[in-house]
Formats: sequence, C-alpha cells, structure tokens
Amino acid sequence: MSETAELKIDGKTIELPIVTGSENEKAIDISKLRGSSGYVTIDPGYKNTGSTTSSITFLDGEEGILRYRGYSIEDLADKASFLEVSYLLIYGELPTTEEYSKFKTEITQHTLIHEDIKNILEGFPSNSHPMGVLSSLVSSLTAFYPESLDPNRSWDDVDLSIKRLLAKLPTMAAWAYKNEIGHPANYPDNSLDYCSNFLKMMFAVPSEKYEADPVIANALDKLLILHADHEQNCSTSTVRIVGSSHASLYASIAAGISALWGPLHGGANQAVIEMLENIKKDGGDVKKYMAKAKDKNDPFRLMGFGHRVYKNFDPRARIIKKAADDVLNKLGINDPVLEIAKGLEEIALKDEYFVERKLYPNVDFYSGIIYRALGIPTSMFTVMFAMGRLPGWIAQWKEMRENKEPIGRPRQIYTGSNHRPLNR
Ligand code: CMC
Repeated sequence: MSETAELKIDGKTIELPIVTGSENEKAIDISKLRGSSGYVTIDPGYKNTGSTTSSITFLDGEEGILRYRGYSIEDLADKASFLEVSYLLIYGELPTTEEYSKFKTEITQHTLIHEDIKNILEGFPSNSHPMGVLSSLVSSLTAFYPESLDPNRSWDDVDLSIKRLLAKLPTMAAWAYKNEIGHPANYPDNSLDYCSNFLKMMFAVPSEKYEADPVIANALDKLLILHADHEQNCSTSTVRIVGSSHASLYASIAAGISALWGPLHGGANQAVIEMLENIKKDGGDVKKYMAKAKDKNDPFRLMGFGHRVYKNFDPRARIIKKAADDVLNKLGINDPVLEIAKGLEEIALKDEYFVERKLYPNVDFYSGIIYRALGIPTSMFTVMFAMGRLPGWIAQWKEMRENKEPIGRPRQIYTGSNHRPLNR
C-alpha cells in the first residue's frame, strides 16, 4: 500500500498521499485537500511548496549537490560543452557524436535574425538596459514565426522553435549590447563555436580584426554550463506558469527573462559588482558594510550571499571561484575588487549572523568578477545568466507541456473588506 500522511482538521482525519522522488525526497500531495476539507494551504514565496515533479535537475541544498539528468555539475563543467549540456537538458541524454554534430549544425544555421528585428532594436533608446531589450526581442520572435504561436502543433514545429531560440539568443544579446553603446551590430560568424561567435558579435568593431581568446571562450562556456538549470527557481517557475496557459515558447521565455532580471535573482551578479565597487570607492571598509547588512533598519543586503535552497554551500560558487582565479591568472589581471570580495567572504563566513542564517556566497558572488575579467560589461552580466539558463527554461517548458500539466493558478486567503453597500 502506498504511504499516506494524516491531517486532523475540524475533528476529521484526512489521508493525504505521499509522493517520493528518485532521491527519496518526500512530499505530501495536497491537491485534493480543498475538495475533502474546504481548506487550502498557504505558503508565500512557495518556500515549502513543490509545484511539480520533474526529472531534469536534482538539487540538495543541505549537501550542496547539483545534478542535471543525474550528472554532477562538477563533471559536466569539467568534461562537457555548453551545447552538449543543452542537448542533455532538453532531450534527456547526452548526444552521441552524430547527434551532437547534427545539433551543432542546426543551431549554427539559425543564428541570423530577421533584418526587421534590427529595426525594432533601433527603436529602443541607446542606454536601454539589455535585459529589457532581450525580453522584448525574444517576444517579438512570435511575430516573425507565427507558427510558433500554437505550442500544440507537431513536435517538429516545436523543436524548430527551440533550435531557433538557442541559436538566436546570443545574436539578440550581443545586439542589445551594441544598441546600448550605440555601435553597429555584428552579424553572426557561423564558422565559430557558440561562445566565440557570441564574443565576436559583442566585441568586434568594423575598424579592427577580432579573434576570440580561447581562454575567454572556454571560461564563458563553463559559466553557461553552471547556469544552465536550477530546478523550480523564480524565472523557471515563471516560464512554466506562463507556458501552462499554452502561451508560446517565445512568450514563456520572454517572461522568464523578465523574472530573472531582479536583483534577488539573476540581477544579483550586476548588483554584486556594483556593491563591491561602492565599497572600494567608500574606502574599502568591509566591516562597515557587514554591519549595514546585519542592521534590520537598513535595507542593504550583502549581494551574492544567501540562497533559498543552498544552506551549506553553493556548488556552482565553488567551481566559479576556482575558474575566476584561473582566468585572472591566465589573463594576468589583478582586480582590486576581487580583494574586497575575498575580504567580505572571509568575515561573513565567520560572522555569527551569517553562520546562524546559513548565508554563504552564491553563484553570483564570483560570476560578476569573472565576467569583468572576460571583458563583459556590467549591464550584460544578467544577460549572460539568461543565455546560460535558456536550455533549462526550454527543458522545463517542454517537460511541463509533455506532462500535460494544468494551468498554474494558486489560491489565496482574502483579508480585505467584507461586503459593503455602495451608498450614493
Ligand atoms: N544579506 C543580509 N541578510 C540576509 C541576506 C543577505 N544577502 N540574505 C538573507 N538574509 C537574512 C534575512 O534578512 C533573514 O534574516 P531574519 O531571519 O533575521 O529575518 C534571513 O537571512 C533569511 O532570509 P530570507 O530573505 O527569508 O531568505 P530567502 O530564502 O527568502 O531569500 C535570497 C533568499 C537569495 C533572496 C536572499 O538570501 C538574498 O536576498 N540574497 C541577496 C541576493 C542574491 O545574492 N541573490 C542571488 C541568489 S543566487 C542566484 C539565483 O539562483 O537566483
């Protein structure tokens, strides 16, 4: 007999099924609770609510484990490429040599974007934040590929939308940056790998020959892998919930990009560097900022610290910290901001407030430093996160559709006025 939990309400005992995951994670299925008792559950921020079952990513926040489709993030970052990891997340298995070569060719074929998208881009004021531009351009793809509007079309059609998006996002991201700085956009170079092509579109200028440094291209590839999925976080849940209304893939991903933008989520990498630079400008007194972070009357938070699920260490932060050291050494960069970061980390790891609340450096604490070393401008940090997270969003959207999940529609407990007459 399957396991159940008992809940006593209003003198009645209600049996609720228990769901067990492949890593022995347990959940109480309350989906029928309202029907049998009239009660709903309440959990602002979904801190203790599983919104779905999923076979894509396993994360154990206490042990600091992150695996995509069973493979550890450490192994994938060390031995696989971002496109292989994308394939793994979306299709469930690592590709064979033939599958990988076909996949790479397909992605390469679709890197160009419609010239009219350039016109849309030119309509944005320069200085527009690239995240806003990126979200809008992704949404605009629905207009250029109207067949993508119906996610219930054949699998081949959906798969084509997936490949187009993976191929075009780097082009749109680089163009959003060129727009921000008022430079002409570069067209994709299909002779290059995914990251070298992106770097060329970002940094090449008409007057100079540009060749991506392999150290930079490899580091970027690793960073994208580390960001590729993270189960039901804010942006991924957004993608799934938008997609649950049968909105198109492009519309769902555009919403995910907006959700990622906030400084408590993907926007933290930009916020970390801005914070470190402010501390440096203010004389480098890290203790002063530690005190501000602990002061409940001060809105300041130590950006890049704390995580909803990691309560021991963030495995991505470990890999990135080492990669940041390697890249800085290889490129011969001595970044004073890194010293401030190290000082903050050292104090925070011993500080009672941070230890008690299990606040450790997260992926964004070091990713900003490495992006800076790679020459990526601050306003593009969160865009880099979006490029990395794209295959995860796609895989989660696809899984949600394949599982035929119902439309996402939480309940609430109303606390406003009772019925009152409108006396006029
Ligand atoms: N600095 C100072 N205090 C903090 C911080 C911080 N960075 N993070 C959490 N706290 C405190 C918070 O004030 C609360 O204290 P108390 O119990 O006394 O009220 C306690 O720790 C628990 O915090 P919470 O806000 O209830 O935790 P949460 O799970 O809702 O929030 C978080 C998680 C990531 C939003 C939060 O830790 C935070 O704002 N961190 C800074 C932003 C950041 O680095 N975000 C990137 C996350 S990693 C990238 C990603 O995957 O999105």
